[in-house]
Amino acid sequence: MRKVSVELLEFKEQGDDRGHLVVVEGNKDIPFDIKRIFYIYGSSPEVVRGQHANKRSEFVLINVAGNSKVKIDDGKGNEAVFSLNRPHTGIYLPKLIWKDMYDFSADSVLLCLSSEHYDAEEYIRSYDEFIEYIKNEDKVI
Ligand code: TYD
Repeated sequence: MRKVSVELLEFKEQGDDRGHLVVVEGNKDIPFDIKRIFYIYGSSPEVVRGQHANKRSEFVLINVAGNSKVKIDDGKGNEAVFSLNRPHTGIYLPKLIWKDMYDFSADSVLLCLSSEHYDAEEYIRSYDEFIEYIKNEDKVI
């Protein structure tokens, strides 16, 4: 179930009179083996996070509480904005996607699942460098 493009993922919402439960398992609901989990909360609405692309890491982002937006850009002219506002919906981001996360609600908790352990070296934090990297990748293929 390896994926190569940005895609919204719908998870099964299990619930009963005690409340809701969402289960996400690596290599099943999440299209990779989950090696890292981090979560972002307490970001003001005017804050823009992300602003980077990753050479290797794939991500699934889930707003488990509140809401935020993620703008994605593949460096080849394709851009899209997704609203993350449901705990049972995630967005899959393959490697080499420039992403901005913003418009965080006060109660936003953005859960991020990643296919890789943290390695600062695989983060591209300059947009110009990202565009150059994409161009060179295309040459190799
Ligand atoms: P950063 O990548 O700027 O966060 P965001 O993607 O939300 O904009 O990370 C903020 C700081 O946290 C930065 O100093 C790197 C560190 N960090 C880790 O040490 N491990 C991680 O897995 C992540 C995502 C960040």
